Amino acid sequence: MPRMTATDTVRAELARAAGRPGGLAVLTGAGMSAESGIPTFRDAMSGLWSRFDPAQLASEEGFRANPARVWQWYAERRQGVLDAQPNAGHRALADFQQRHPGVMTLITQNVDDLHQRAGQPEVVRLHGDILAVQWLDEGACRKRPRCDPAEAAPGRPPRCVHCGNLARPGVVWFGEMLSVGALERAQRLADECDTMLVVGTSGAVWPAAGLVGRARRGGAQVVIVNPEESEIDAQAHLVLRGTAARVLPGLLAGV
Ligand code: OAD
Repeated sequence: MPRMTATDTVRAELARAAGRPGGLAVLTGAGMSAESGIPTFRDAMSGLWSRFDPAQLASEEGFRANPARVWQWYAERRQGVLDAQPNAGHRALADFQQRHPGVMTLITQNVDDLHQRAGQPEVVRLHGDILAVQWLDEGACRKRPRCDPAEAAPGRPPRCVHCGNLARPGVVWFGEMLSVGALERAQRLADECDTMLVVGTSGAVWPAAGLVGRARRGGAQVVIVNPEESEIDAQAHLVLRGTAARVLPGLLAGV
């Protein structure tokens, strides 16, 4: 009898998980969108944090110190997201979801909208949305009804013509709390799944990285897809060394 490959084993696992609502939880990170042309954070040569200082560009302090610089950096990244298209990995996940409604839940650390544009109906977004804007000082607007940050006057960065508030990107910065609702939802999904598929994350950022251990402690099979080693490899039952756009279509097709 031919030996089962690691891919066969995972496909059998996915087929088992597909029998139950919430059976499959998928956790994605920046590597998921790398083949769409969106840079990751920690890859040695191409990662954003190898070229830029996160303390200056991804923290409230950095924004207050130089709002124009931070706004401009996000404007360039936002344009990169708008110009990008979902890759074969995003599409394979969305196709699986459409074939098995309710089975798969998707949790992402990514601030792009490529899962949604691939057709994923619902995504738990742990780190926010780069296309959204919010007030820097929530609650500082005294107008009634409150001014809408999306309507702040264009500029670098936009400032509200009515209340003077500064708008900032709708992402989670270092030192900030994740949305409690999103985190609790993600933790519940991790606790309750049969299989967790972890794609394209270094596992370096908490609390997102902790979801993998939660899934495992809850009895789930953990499968990682990543071309490189990650900090959470030891928590996986199986690691598939390859990229999202190459591995996911073959893994999920026909399951
Ligand atoms: P990282 O940049 O830390 O890690 C990206 C991972 O993707 C690495 O493990 C790569 O090996 C892997 N990778 C690269 N190309 C890939 C491909 N084509 N297919 C699959 N995997 C690939 O990104 P994250 O783990 O997402 O925070 O980083 C977590 C958080 O740190 C981000 O959400 C961001 C950042 O600071 C916020 O924006 C709040």
